[in-house]
Amino acid sequence: MTDNIRIMITEEEIEQRTKELGEQISRDYAGKQVHMICVLKGGVYFMTALSKRISEDVPVSLDFMSVSSYGDDTKSSGIVKIIKDLDEPLIGKDVLIVEDIIDSGRTLYYLMGMMRERKPNSIKLCTLLDKPDRRVRDVKVDYLGFEIEDRFVVGCGMDYQQKYRNLPYIGEIILTGEEN
Ligand code: IMP
Ligand code: MG
Repeated sequence: MTDNIRIMITEEEIEQRTKELGEQISRDYAGKQVHMICVLKGGVYFMTALSKRISEDVPVSLDFMSVSSYGDDTKSSGIVKIIKDLDEPLIGKDVLIVEDIIDSGRTLYYLMGMMRERKPNSIKLCTLLDKPDRRVRDVKVDYLGFEIEDRFVVGCGMDYQQKYRNLPYIGEIILTGEEN
């Protein structure tokens, strides 16, 4: 089955916004190093694109984490199982978490609490998309690509049943109701 996808944000708009965010981050982190953390897999596309827009004067290091949700009964707590932990300690680092989209905020609320216990110097959050209408946990976004309405989107790292992460644009998926 091919799903119907309506383009919401074009590749050019994403590239332009990513460039602006990279410039802003380069200014804010002048004289420091930025340690970017990505929660697999959704944030990978945005994180690599963003990292290339950070000034050569600001050294960038990357680390990755993979989590899985414990299932519906614990969903409201946001507690997740760490499938792959970070390779590096966070102590003393200026951490920038890079996400594809913040929805309820549960996952990140939990993960940021966990990361704070590892005593980084600072911890900030950059997300390509934000759906503030869906928020149930208070998560502060420091750098935002685009705010969107409560729609299910794919592309630029975001998937529907593991498909469409590779789309260069962000599209709203129009489900036809058919089983695939
Ligand atoms: P939450 O903020 O804990 O609810 O979870 C956010 C995560 O859910 C994101 O990092 C995405 O992986 C996924 N997600 C939320 N909304 C969407 C969407 O519209 N499309 C694709 N993935 C989504
Ligand atoms: Mg994600």
